[in-house]
Amino acid sequence: MRDLLAAIDALRERLQEVPQADDRRLQDLKTEVLGRKGGALTKILAAVPKLAPAERKAAGAAANALKREFEEAFAAHERTLKAGAGVARELDLTMPGRAQWRGGLHLVTQVVDEICEIFHELGFTRAVGPEAETERYNFTALNFPKDHPAMDAQDSFYLGGDVLLRTHTSPVQIRTLERYPPPIRVVIPGQVYRRDPFDASHSPVFEQIEGLAVDEGITFVDFKATLTAFARRFFTADTRVRFRPSFFPFTEPSAEMDVQCQICKGTGCATCKQTGWMEILGSGMVHPAVLENCGLDSERYTGFAWGMGPHRIAMTRHGIPDIRLLFESDMRFLAQFAGGTR
Ligand code: DAH
Repeated sequence: MRDLLAAIDALRERLQEVPQADDRRLQDLKTEVLGRKGGALTKILAAVPKLAPAERKAAGAAANALKREFEEAFAAHERTLKAGAGVARELDLTMPGRAQWRGGLHLVTQVVDEICEIFHELGFTRAVGPEAETERYNFTALNFPKDHPAMDAQDSFYLGGDVLLRTHTSPVQIRTLERYPPPIRVVIPGQVYRRDPFDASHSPVFEQIEGLAVDEGITFVDFKATLTAFARRFFTADTRVRFRPSFFPFTEPSAEMDVQCQICKGTGCATCKQTGWMEILGSGMVHPAVLENCGLDSERYTGFAWGMGPHRIAMTRHGIPDIRLLFESDMRFLAQFAGGTR
């Protein structure tokens, strides 16, 4: 009797082998346990009637219970093998998975969004305008003199007649001033086109962000404070800035704004050509003639404007040496700046 119960317990251990078995092993297992001749459990069941009558009942019950357990385990595992059969044979489950590609925003798009967001906090809304412009919006209304070289077909892409691909986002200043009464505070992101070579620092198409604020009582102090606040938010809170006198037909006075080189922090390096500074935008107080061209009283209203290049700004911030990297689709480069989605 003892021996028989011990044999039943030992055999129960082998239930664990069932879920591990493949088709062939399962058939073998069935034979080894339940086979009519020589099955381990068959032998046990055959031994039960030979026991003393008092012991027969308990041993018989245990052996039969184990038989049911084996039968159920075999049936269940057979179902599992059957369900997986089609798939398991065709797929090589040891093959490494394919990497998942996740889309992201281009570095320049991220920079445009971030810049617009900072100006949004300062009270500016986003405006846009057409990329095909007339000479009036692109030049004349912006106070360009009639013979300005930018109006030459050598420098700009003309589409026919006096229509050209805008050379800057400034024409949207005119469109905004014609359409909306002051107070005006807008940022204008968009593509612009110039007959420039495609080299390390030029591209015939690039992004600009224009800014314009026009209201009563706007002064040079508002202008410097707004752009300084922007630079300290976009770069770092301790970034130094400087304004250098410059010239644009549509601003008077005009200035270019430099920020401390973000790579060497102002000590001088190859990226800033040892100057310690990087130019990030052109700007100035809106020229009275521009306001008058849009039907505004330049005695009553003043304003400031600026234009900056997000490509250049992205390069400044990250020390990117060649603008072409921002136009090519080399994922090894772009993935370093993998941005969120919009
Ligand atoms: N439109 C100029 C350019 O493309 C940039 C610019 C300079 C825009 C001064 C402005 C400004 O609004 O005030 O080079």
